[in-house]
Amino acid sequence: MNSIQSLRLIVILFIASLAAGLTLAQTAGISSRYTASPASPDGIGKRYMDREISGVMGWQGAPWLERQEREREERTDLLLKALALKPGMVVADIGAGTGYLTRRMAPAVLPGVKIIAVDVQPEMVRMLENSIKSTGQTHIEARLSSVDDVKLPTSSVDLAVMVDVYHELAFPYEVMISVMKSLKPGGRMVFVEYKAEDPKVPIKPLHKMSEAQIRKEAEVFALDWERTVSTLPCLGST
Ligand SMILES: C[S@@+](CC[C@H](N)C(=O)[O-])C[C@H]1O[C@@H](n2cnc3c(N)ncnc32)[C@H](O)[C@@H]1O
Repeated sequence: MNSIQSLRLIVILFIASLAAGLTLAQTAGISSRYTASPASPDGIGKRYMDREISGVMGWQGAPWLERQEREREERTDLLLKALALKPGMVVADIGAGTGYLTRRMAPAVLPGVKIIAVDVQPEMVRMLENSIKSTGQTHIEARLSSVDDVKLPTSSVDLAVMVDVYHELAFPYEVMISVMKSLKPGGRMVFVEYKAEDPKVPIKPLHKMSEAQIRKEAEVFALDWERTVSTLPCLGST
């Protein structure tokens, strides 16, 4: 290992099945969906499917999202390869923050591809708008979502991606319902999270997720697991 810290990420892809509008969870009682628990330092004292939900990373943390070493640490180029964007796709970057990934998808964008970047914090959306302007591209738009709804048009999205976001959704079930509505039949949902399985990953426990937990939560919806990508490196090991 060299002196760079290991930030191993996991990328999990799901495909919306034909019955994308239906979910198994819709039959479950709403009151049993979330439970209260004493809040841990990084959590919100609310549990969903056996995990405590993390607090939202405030807009004040924007410089961390834009840190110079991020590309080297996270290898976004490999993430883009895994996403395999194609001409004509509509891509939703959900919880886009400052637009770090949004901007990097832009050069990969082929003719006709559109990116919609959404975030729940108005301050982040303002930063997003500025960062989109800096690319000089017109096929990217920033939108403000709400805490329980991504507010994207029905059946409009080919690929929805959340990078380091899902663990901090205060209403993961409701957000996923809104994502499911926004996906076209056969559309894809991609979760990118720091790996909870690796104790060496220097990220707070509630800010990481295990593959098993993501699959458990995603498979409540009409999503079929497509593949898990493990090509994003443990830094220093390559
Ligand atoms: C750790 S940041 C990651 C930002 C970006 N994806 C990146 O990797 O640079 C998490 C982002 O998710 C956003 N977020 C949290 N809850 C959200 C929700 N319910 N809907 C949309 N965005 C949300 C936060 O405002 C924050 O910008």
